[in-house]
Amino acid sequence: MTYNFPVTRTQHPKPRPEDETKLGFARYFTDHMFVMDYDEGQGWHDGRIVPHEPFLIEPASCVLHYAQMMFEGMKAYRTPDGSVQIFRPDMNIARMARTNERMCIPELPGDLFLAAVKAVIEADADWIPTAPGTALYIRPFIFGDEVSFSVLPAKHYKFMIILSPTGSYYAANDGGITTTRIYVQDNYIRAAKGGTGYAKVGGNYGGGMRASQDAMKYNCKDVLWLDAAEHKYVEEIGTSNAFFRIADEVITAPLDSGTILPGITRNSVIQLLKKWGVKVSERKLSIDEIVEASKNGTLQEIFASGTAAVISPIGWLNYNGKEIEVADTKVGPIAQKLYDTLYGIQTGTVEDFMGWTYPLGITVGK
Ligand SMILES: Cc1ncc(COP(=O)(O)O)c(C=O)c1O
Repeated sequence: MTYNFPVTRTQHPKPRPEDETKLGFARYFTDHMFVMDYDEGQGWHDGRIVPHEPFLIEPASCVLHYAQMMFEGMKAYRTPDGSVQIFRPDMNIARMARTNERMCIPELPGDLFLAAVKAVIEADADWIPTAPGTALYIRPFIFGDEVSFSVLPAKHYKFMIILSPTGSYYAANDGGITTTRIYVQDNYIRAAKGGTGYAKVGGNYGGGMRASQDAMKYNCKDVLWLDAAEHKYVEEIGTSNAFFRIADEVITAPLDSGTILPGITRNSVIQLLKKWGVKVSERKLSIDEIVEASKNGTLQEIFASGTAAVISPIGWLNYNGKEIEVADTKVGPIAQKLYDTLYGIQTGTVEDFMGWTYPLGITVGK
């Protein structure tokens, strides 16, 4: 199906960020956004591109009280020849469908989602940064805004997409990667079986803030979550999936508990490792096994994977008041190779031998 969305261009274009090496994460937003409504009986309708600006919301809207919402996260990149591409959008569409089902949010057809992403990027394509480590972050989200205090799925929703030129996660490092310190959280939990851990919903993140704030007291960047039932098995690192290289095996938590967000970067890492002949296992891994591996010298690397940082290597774990050094605390070879390959494919500087990039048919000046 072909979609045409009317565009209302802003009368007040924003000043562009002066220094692309100091963009930070979601500190700047582009000039336009996508908005579409859903009404029961009518379905999704009236998709449009409008200026990015504050909008009115009725204080009794159900999202403000019962958090019926979802979001996605992806990035657009400008390749060296000026064409614009995104990464594995079919995976975002599939994850969105699972989240919507879990949250009783109406289905949004994948081709409509993709057409909306393309339309809003086209409106602001010249905002895509090109400095090393940068990209245009895409934040699609849906919320129920029916005026109702009944704890029931809304009959009216809004789907919006906003865009933010974002910087290298490792701003001090000119786009490269560097190790961070992570706090092993065995007090608070993120998600339990039967909950919403596998879905991308705001409540998962609001509920995690206490833990990540506490981690910062220990000079840690984020938390390593343990499972809710036994506080024993590793699950995720902050808003990323977690990988552990012990001897010649790279291990990541399995998804079958439904407590872990199925990351698109996680899936890509597993596929690349398999292609390179590295032994990779999706299996339960206890924090005790990691402590033991660090003691006997087989803990080689820990890294997190996610859209924001791509690959984020971990140099130290803070667990039970003790600091565990990961190998020599430097970026490990697998993490570095994964980062170079993934970010290279995403930005068009490494050949896309996996068929993961999705050109939007938009070209911007170099
Ligand atoms: C809780 C959580 N886990 C993992 C990820 C990584 O997912 P992806 O690789 O799709 O960005 C994210 C980020 O979206 C996340 O918020």
